[in-house]
Amino acid sequence: SFFTSLNMERTYIMVKPDGVERGLVGEIIKRFENRGYQLLALQLLTPTKEHLEQHYADLKAKPFFPGLIQYMLSGPVVGMVWAGKDAVKTGRKMLGETNPLASAPGTIRGDYCIEVGRNICHGSDSVESAEKEIALWFPQGVADYQRNKSLTQLI
Ligand code: TYD
Repeated sequence: SFFTSLNMERTYIMVKPDGVERGLVGEIIKRFENRGYQLLALQLLTPTKEHLEQHYADLKAKPFFPGLIQYMLSGPVVGMVWAGKDAVKTGRKMLGETNPLASAPGTIRGDYCIEVGRNICHGSDSVESAEKEIALWFPQGVADYQRNKSLTQLI
């Protein structure tokens, strides 16, 4: 398809409660727009514990899991689907490392935080987990990739 022939991927990016509270939603959106990615879906919501436990199911056995869930329940989050070339890998690069202290300046975490437990944002770590996360957070479905003028220029 047009989508796969161009290496197009979708990724789930989420501004965590501290990012929303600190007013960093616009900054994060701006970085993805500036980079050339296309916003396919966007929602502000206060997730349930069950929803978050599903999202972080792979981490259930980790010692930091209860604290992670508690932090994620501390306020609304902004979930987004971004699409474009290599969106998953590049999205992770734009976020920085899990531990903000290991994140290079110029990345979101490298520019805005210092605590692993308050690291502002989430980004899918593989195409497979991206598709799972998009289905989990947007069960109603997501609009198709738009083949518009600005994207044609980017391609
Ligand atoms: P993980 O999926 O390993 O990292 P990432 O968000 O970069 O994909 O972990 C999920 C979140 O759990 C991470 O963003 C912050 C939190 N966390 C801690 O609080 N302490 C830790 O030691 C780790 C590894 C993660």
